[in-house]
Amino acid sequence: MTSLHDAVNRGSLTWAVRDSLLRYVTVVARGSYTVEGGATITTDGAFAFPLRRAVQTDGQWHLSFAGSVRLTAHHGFLDVLIADPELVTGHEGGMLSARTNVDGTTTLIAATDAEVPQHSDVDLAWTANDVHLLESGVELFGGVYPAGTDLAPLKVRVSLDS
Ligand code: HEM
Repeated sequence: MTSLHDAVNRGSLTWAVRDSLLRYVTVVARGSYTVEGGATITTDGAFAFPLRRAVQTDGQWHLSFAGSVRLTAHHGFLDVLIADPELVTGHEGGMLSARTNVDGTTTLIAATDAEVPQHSDVDLAWTANDVHLLESGVELFGGVYPAGTDLAPLKVRVSLDS
């Protein structure tokens, strides 16, 4: 088992959620999005969540990230929170979950294909291009996207040097 603690700034999850959603929120609905808790917006408009913890057990990586993004529009009717995302990934694919409510509710949002991580001596870099919405995540987007809807690719980088 490999466990990396106190790994803030030593890795990240980068995700744009879904391009058409960000366009809809900002352009169509004239809303906005904010990032907090260490999350940042990358130059190409995706959200980067800093790594909090990476644990490898039984061929699976359990990756916890910090920070949140909140999309708001329609005078608060649209209010989508994605906070402290977690990714569990292994040979059979990955599962992305996040806290989606200030009361702490966690939602299993998406499943990913089983991309094998690119290992080097110093880091693990992993990109999942096939990311799709799970039934449990449908409600998060107001029921507009059916289960199976394609979401933005996920990129993970974890620094392994200690
Ligand atoms: C006053 C309330 C709302 C109005 C008037 C409204 C209106 C619309 C319209 C007109 C579209 C189509 C946009 C387009 O195709 O260009 C749309 C899409 C969408 N709406 Fe709303 N909406 C409302 C509330 C919500 C809420 C509460 C959610 C919850 C998350 C939501 C989520 C979505 C999503 C995910 C799409 C699809 C965006 C895409 O990927 O193209 N909407 N809405």
